[in-house]
Amino acid sequence: MKKDHDLSFDDFDEAVNPRPEGCDFDVVVEEALSRRGFLGGVLAMGGFAALGGAVLPTGAKANGNRFAFDAVAASTEDSIVVPKGYKAEVVMRWADAMWSDSVAFDQDTRGTAETQARTFGDNTDGMEIFMHEGRTLMAINNEYTNRNIIWGNREEGKFANADDVEKGMLAHGVSVVEIAHDGTGWGIVIDSPFNRRITPQTEMALTGPAAGHDLLKTAADPSGTKTFGTWNNCGSGTTPWGTYLACEENFNGYFSAEDENHEVSAELKRYGISASDWGYGWATIDDRFDVAKTPNEPNRAGYVVEIDPRDPNSTPKKRTALGRFKHENAECVVNNDGRLVIYMGDDERGEFLYRYVSNGVYAAGVDTDELMENGSLYAAKFDASGKGTWLALTPENTGMTQAEICIHTRIAASKMGATTMDRPEWVTANPNSDEVYCALTNNKNRGVKTNKGGDETPVEGPNPREANKYGQIVRWKPEGGDHAAGGFDWDLYVLAGNPTVHQDDRAGSDNVNEGNMFNSPDGLAFDSNGLLWIQTDGKYSNADDFAGQGNNQMLAGDPVTGEIRRFLVGPKEAEVTGLCWSGDRRTMFVGIQHPGERGDSHWPDGGTSVPRSAIIAVTREDGGLVG
Ligand code: FEO
Ligand code: CA
Ligand code: CA
Ligand code: CA
Repeated sequence: MKKDHDLSFDDFDEAVNPRPEGCDFDVVVEEALSRRGFLGGVLAMGGFAALGGAVLPTGAKANGNRFAFDAVAASTEDSIVVPKGYKAEVVMRWADAMWSDSVAFDQDTRGTAETQARTFGDNTDGMEIFMHEGRTLMAINNEYTNRNIIWGNREEGKFANADDVEKGMLAHGVSVVEIAHDGTGWGIVIDSPFNRRITPQTEMALTGPAAGHDLLKTAADPSGTKTFGTWNNCGSGTTPWGTYLACEENFNGYFSAEDENHEVSAELKRYGISASDWGYGWATIDDRFDVAKTPNEPNRAGYVVEIDPRDPNSTPKKRTALGRFKHENAECVVNNDGRLVIYMGDDERGEFLYRYVSNGVYAAGVDTDELMENGSLYAAKFDASGKGTWLALTPENTGMTQAEICIHTRIAASKMGATTMDRPEWVTANPNSDEVYCALTNNKNRGVKTNKGGDETPVEGPNPREANKYGQIVRWKPEGGDHAAGGFDWDLYVLAGNPTVHQDDRAGSDNVNEGNMFNSPDGLAFDSNGLLWIQTDGKYSNADDFAGQGNNQMLAGDPVTGEIRRFLVGPKEAEVTGLCWSGDRRTMFVGIQHPGERGDSHWPDGGTSVPRSAIIAVTREDGGLVG
């Protein structure tokens, strides 16, 4: 048995709740044959430009090099690598001070619940910048905490008392900080009135169609409209009206039951809830995390949370209209007709890609609550032909009430026959065209096992490789440029792979080569120039299938030519995730998550220091624009 910190969130879930081998042999063979034809097409496309109108055309011209940097080589060093002429500096790390009463990080104890409550959270993920009255406000997800690091002072990295458990809990959530550049570098503005920690204990409102439903009621909240906290916030989003969206992803692993044989409902199982948590121990200090005692509490997590960073006293709102699943991020687009469209991935093996379309239109002075509460949810179905359709998750189609659709969204999408995907991570829309991109990070169960709902995972369409180790990026273009339309055209922007190790489809598409190869694309964001930035959360063994790929990294891709170039490499055992720009676009902020998750990093402070997740500022030495 692997040590628990060697297991991914998905692997934890499978160990607790194993899935049957789901795909019969004939189906796999049949799909593998059609895959050969499909992959031939993708590989031949290479950089896409050669096919002109046969693939997604964009408005931009393919006029040579759009990259303002020379590619960097892969690296296995415990440091940040950026191109010549650029520099990277730490802005804030886990447990850094936000107020003058914050206690400095203690390398020996790694803090207490009290010190963690008054300092920056752990494991930074999605983040966004908001300019407000001349100030730069940043909202940042603190997705989770590595137990072996935060409790590294304890035997086997396990909590020893209730304060340890609460310290771990308070390392989760969202941090809102004002940042400023003091002439030498960026840092937190200590005691800014905008600084705020939002944790699993912060009061929140449940809004939208599921609010007040019986499944959301608990003894502590008989109204089903008031809840506490958010945790495992992964990717982010911003609304057109300037609020922050924090997306609840692997919310399940925090629930447990005293009786380890306690059986949860089929609906909770679909979301990975079981009698065992992942070792955080929250039920030992708060009964709402004991599913035997509070069986509806898990129904109050798994949403997109809207936070107003400009009002530190505002109550965050869980937007049930956007569905409940393992939300990665929320990419908002204002459609041509003014309706708000939000694209969202459900990051688990064989789960789905979703779209929300508001009923109302966005215009100055409209009630924005209304836009996030009344609308329709859809799940994507991809055909092998390069076409796709959005399946409406309505009461009429699913036989479920609107509230049930918003709570058991996965079940609604399964009923409709949506396409099981290779773990949809971030979605991002090209600001210069109507294309939308989604990272499909990897899926070792593709063609091998069903998803948790028993849906088959055939090897076809945008998920063309069995036991997919490397991942791919799919993109689509809505019919008629209308993001609310019923259909779309799709293709693959890149199939990641390793062309130095493999000659078959595991070599990747033609825009992958020895100099830019990577695995497990995850974070995606377009800059204002229309370059696609790709962040990875993959294998960093630098051996075997991953030989030559080094540590996790960030690359830039040209959506028109397909060219991809490596920009940055992270430190050891870290993920590169979260990306945003300063108001003047002369600084790029990049998140570095879980350095040393297996014990082999002292980044960023070096020596024998405790590794700490941090946000870095990347600038040009000549002060030029970086996106
Ligand atoms: Fe938190 Fe899907 O990454
Ligand atoms: Ca991610
Ligand atoms: Ca990931
Ligand atoms: Ca991660």
